[in-house]
Amino acid sequence: MKKILVINGVNLNMLGVREPEVYGKATLKDLHEMIEGWAKEVGCEVTCVQSNYEGEICEKIHQAYGVYDGIVINPAAFTHYSYAIRDALSSVRIPAIEVHISNVHKREAFRDNSVIVPECMGQVCGLGYKGYKYALEALCDVEG
Ligand code: DQA
Repeated sequence: MKKILVINGVNLNMLGVREPEVYGKATLKDLHEMIEGWAKEVGCEVTCVQSNYEGEICEKIHQAYGVYDGIVINPAAFTHYSYAIRDALSSVRIPAIEVHISNVHKREAFRDNSVIVPECMGQVCGLGYKGYKYALEALCDVEG
């Protein structure tokens, strides 16, 4: 069974409180429970983590080396400027998919660019929480 690490970045601990019209009403705990349920459906093992600290996210990616088969990452605002997270992903070369709850391409101009996605297989955005499920499915389809 594939082992997938799900990383949620900065401010996502505020889900449920933070702009519910954009990010929905579920809390981070609700989201992690949804992801654990989808992992059972999809047939993979999942670990969900969240951090507000760029360096801590880099360390979680480093520690995933040799342990996890895939990474689902919603880097949140780090998406738009964190070369450190991008380099961490390119260091470990674990297949990764970037997820955003909202459609970052139809919001403010600064959200249109991701410095992380060039190191990912692809990006799922604008599909709400279910984006994490689609990312898990895609990672489980990766050969090897
Ligand atoms: C987000 C989109 C980012 O632009 C924003 O900074 C977030 C959440 C999303 O899931 O839609 O914090 O990654």
